[in-house]
Amino acid sequence: MNNATVLTNLKGLMSPVPGSPWKVDRIDDAAIVRMEGRIAWMGRRADLPAEWADSPATDGQGGWALPGFVDPHTHLLFAGDRSGEFNRRLHGVPYAQIASEGGGIRETVRATRAATVQELVELGEARLKVLRARGVIHIEAKTGYGLELEAESRLLEAYSELKRRGWSLDVTLLPAHDIPLEYAGDAEGYSRIVADDWLPELVRRHPGAASYCDVFIETGVFTVAQGRRILDAGKRLGLQPRIHADELSWTGGAELAAELGAASADHLMFCSEQGMKAMAAGNVTPILLPVTTLCLGMKEWAPSRRMIETGCQVALASDFNPGSSPCLDPLLVLRLGCLQLRLTFEEALCAMTLHAARSLGHNDLGHLQPGARTPIALWPVEDPLELVYWVGEAYVPSVSF
Ligand code: NIG
Ligand code: FE
Repeated sequence: MNNATVLTNLKGLMSPVPGSPWKVDRIDDAAIVRMEGRIAWMGRRADLPAEWADSPATDGQGGWALPGFVDPHTHLLFAGDRSGEFNRRLHGVPYAQIASEGGGIRETVRATRAATVQELVELGEARLKVLRARGVIHIEAKTGYGLELEAESRLLEAYSELKRRGWSLDVTLLPAHDIPLEYAGDAEGYSRIVADDWLPELVRRHPGAASYCDVFIETGVFTVAQGRRILDAGKRLGLQPRIHADELSWTGGAELAAELGAASADHLMFCSEQGMKAMAAGNVTPILLPVTTLCLGMKEWAPSRRMIETGCQVALASDFNPGSSPCLDPLLVLRLGCLQLRLTFEEALCAMTLHAARSLGHNDLGHLQPGARTPIALWPVEDPLELVYWVGEAYVPSVSF
């Protein structure tokens, strides 16, 4: 029937079930019908309804169909890299010490301030192409390497251009990613200017460009009170909060996320029991970033199992950035989700699709149930579990349909 296409010759499909946080449908020898950009039907090929029996077919080449991954926490746009700092860390210098010496985020800020919008767009597009080729079909992307009005504004301009070019992303304003050199020792003054002047000005200059506002709440960076001020100001401008919370120490970021009705609290290696309960009750998505824990050489992995027991609908993300997670590989996120955060394969799949998409308000991404409009990733495996089991294998999906 009318402009429907049938994806067939699939070894099978796996899809989370919206409304059942950790349930996954697994259907062998499946077919999927797409009509007008949305999935109209999916099930066993033998059960394909007669109305679509003669519709044009797309060959699934015997692969497994999974919803494309959604990455709900990236710092996509930055210039330069930090390979020098990385080697110092390999020699045992802690991340926090490098930051306190003016390196770390501030080094990337220097490089990013010097970049033109055009250069940022080209860098961003090259990275988005890599992600797309690896099965990531939608991302959240933050500003935060400008840390001054004009540079943050250029980052927003670059993100807007990427959207105009057709890339699927949600933008988060993060001028409170760190305290810039100009405000060294004055987090209070910086948080006031961000809340009172910069956020309103950025939204005025780029209406509709950003959907979220984020703050790095951490010992020695921004306090809960400063975070609250910035995120409240963002809310008044229509930006929903997300928070870098409890990453290097407990500061109460998860609790603040629940208080403010944030979309997510991210990192959470030092999240408290109370914070987990507050997130579960407040429908805040905890977003766990295991590549960051790995790259920072930390022993403290986020208490993922306890979060799930508490009723949290956990998501996984890359945290792609030049310092703590120079990683554009969704399979590494998936693998660490299973091997270090101890999620089952089905849970990790839900965390990288359904819950990631839900944390960004996209109920029609992250699953293959009727109504979904997600691109589908076709993986060349006999069973989806191989994506984790063959731990170093660089599987490449075809993303289509
Ligand atoms: O999410 N925690 C703060 N921000 C980043 C690190 C950024 C950087 O080191 O450049 C993070 O881990
Ligand atoms: Fe981050």
